[in-house]
Amino acid sequence: MDASTNHAEQTVLLLGGTGRTGDRVLQQLLSRGVHVRALVRSADRLPAGVAADPRLTVVVADLLSLSDQQVREQVDGCDAVISCLGHTISAQGVFGKPRDLVTRSVERVCRAARDLRPTQPVKLILMSSVSVNRARGLDRRRGRFERAALWLLRGLVPPARDNQRAADFLHDVIAAADPCAQWVIVRPDTLKEGDVTEYALHEGLVDGLFRPGATTRANVAHFMCELATDAEVWAAWRGRLPVIMNASPE
Ligand SMILES: NC(=O)c1ccc[n+]([C@@H]2O[C@H](COP(=O)([O-])OP(=O)(O)OC[C@H]3O[C@@H](n4cnc5c(N)ncnc54)[C@H](OP(=O)(O)O)[C@@H]3O)[C@@H](O)[C@H]2O)c1
Repeated sequence: MDASTNHAEQTVLLLGGTGRTGDRVLQQLLSRGVHVRALVRSADRLPAGVAADPRLTVVVADLLSLSDQQVREQVDGCDAVISCLGHTISAQGVFGKPRDLVTRSVERVCRAARDLRPTQPVKLILMSSVSVNRARGLDRRRGRFERAALWLLRGLVPPARDNQRAADFLHDVIAAADPCAQWVIVRPDTLKEGDVTEYALHEGLVDGLFRPGATTRANVAHFMCELATDAEVWAAWRGRLPVIMNASPE
């Protein structure tokens, strides 16, 4: 076992660990023996039973309200940052501030990593969506109605725009071989509940927006944990935007 697979020596900063996918990431990381620093707005919303785990450090704070120095302190010593942040599904969550939650969080983490100049690049794993395009038309071309629907969606629904901007920032500003921060943007299709099952990873879009595929949150969490802890999985996907789908449509 080389150092990269010794999970007990790995630390992950988890953003959004109180969310429906983030809580699965948290539990799966802890069960792999990884140290987790969970930055949350409320510790009460963490999944039951994790509080007593000695590998878990809970920091109650809002990333966007921290000073640059405080963000650096959170990123410092972490091998990876996993973001499962998402806008709460409510009128305030979708249309209220911060409309750029994901983009600003990603920018702040990358800036902190660059300031810290770590010996190994920090792996940033961002949970995103199949509504997000790969820059420069690298995905298959969407149909005319799908493009129009997405144009409207990004114009009218801030979280959709936020997810695309966060992806564009990473793609355009952080080179795939950046010495301080590297990234993978995970694009699940429609999320559903269920256990970890077999899943498939695709380089680009598979199903259309109007004929969605499905992914369990547990599978998304599993893949993000693999990216954080397995050097080969990381090497295969860094700087890319894999689409994850359950192997079986059911
Ligand atoms: N839902 C879907 O079908 C779907 C499909 C594909 C992709 N996605 C994307 O996947 C991501 C995660 O989705 P999810 O359904 O797992 O999310 P979720 O359950 O809604 O969790 C969102 C997380 O973000 C945190 N958060 C929300 N607003 C915040 C703010 N203003 N400041 C700090 N933290 C904040 C929440 O913290 P609190 O607990 O404190 O509120 C929670 O931990 C999103 O970016 C979403 O666009 C979703």
